[in-house]
Amino acid sequence: MITSHTNIPVDDAQTSGGHPRPELAPLTSEEQVLFDSIDRARVPRHIAIIMDGNGRWARERGWADRIRGHEAGSESVRFAVRACGQLGVEALTLYAFSVENWSRPAEEIGALMSLLQSFLVQEADEIQTNNVRVVVSGRIEDIPDGPRQTLEQTIQASASNTGLVLNLALSYGGRTEILDAVKKIASEVQSGELVPADISEDVISARLYHPELPDPDLLIRTSGELRVSNFLLWQIAYTEIYVSPVLWPDFRRKHLYEAILNFQGRERRFGRVSPV
Ligand code: FPP
Repeated sequence: MITSHTNIPVDDAQTSGGHPRPELAPLTSEEQVLFDSIDRARVPRHIAIIMDGNGRWARERGWADRIRGHEAGSESVRFAVRACGQLGVEALTLYAFSVENWSRPAEEIGALMSLLQSFLVQEADEIQTNNVRVVVSGRIEDIPDGPRQTLEQTIQASASNTGLVLNLALSYGGRTEILDAVKKIASEVQSGELVPADISEDVISARLYHPELPDPDLLIRTSGELRVSNFLLWQIAYTEIYVSPVLWPDFRRKHLYEAILNFQGRERRFGRVSPV
C-alpha cells in the first residue's frame, strides 16, 4: 500500500465506466512497482496534459457518438487528479476545452459543458477532502451560464485549499492567453503605469491567466499526436514533452507513472551544457 503525504485516499478506482462510481481498489502489483520506482524528491511540480483521443476511443468501439468517448475521458480525469495529488504534484493543468473547440457541432459542445458541470458536482466532496484547489485558465466568460456558475462556486469553495492546484484550461488558447496579456500591458502603458522599456519576460508572465503557477515541467499528450495544439505556448518553452500512444479514456495511473519515470530519466539543461 502506498503512503501519501496528502490526505488523499491511497486507493483508487480500477475501472472506467461512469456512474455509479466503480469500486475503489488498491494499486495493482504492476502499478505499485512503478509507483515505488518514482523518485518522490523529483516529481514534476507542474504536469500539463493534452487529453486527446476521446473521439477515436468511441469510434474504435463502433460508436458513432463521440460523446461516449468524452464521458469515458471524464473518468480518466478523476484518475489523473487523484494520482497527481497522491504524488505531491503541485499543479495539474488539463486541456479540457480549447478556443478552437467552439467550432465543434453544437451537440458535442453542449455535452462537453454538461460533462464538465456534472464532474464538478460529483467531485465536489472529493475536491474538498483531497484539499484540491480548482482554478480556470481561459476565457471563463465564454462558458454557458450553468457550467460557469458551477465552476465559479467550485473555484470559490476550494480557494483556500492548499494541496494540488487543478487548473482547467477552458475556452483556452495559448495565443489568446498571450493576446490577453498584451492587451493588459498596452492598457497599463496607455495609463502611464508601465513604460515600454520596462516590459520584460517577467512582465509578460505576470499577466498570464495564472502567473502564480510554475511553468509545466512535463507536458503529456495522449493518443500519439505530435502537436502542441495552441496549449500553454508561453509556459512550455523548456517543458519536457511526453507523448503516449494511449487514448485519453484509457489513460490510467500506470500511464501517468510511466510518464513521470520517463521524465525523471531525462537531463534538463535549459539551454545550458551538461556539467562535466
Ligand atoms: C480531445 O479528444 C478531447 C477534448 C476536446 C475534450 C476533453 C474533455 C474531457 C476529457 C471530458 C470532460 C473534462 C473534464 C475536465 C471533466 P478528441 O475529441 O479531439 O478526440 P479525437 O482526436 O480522437 O477525435
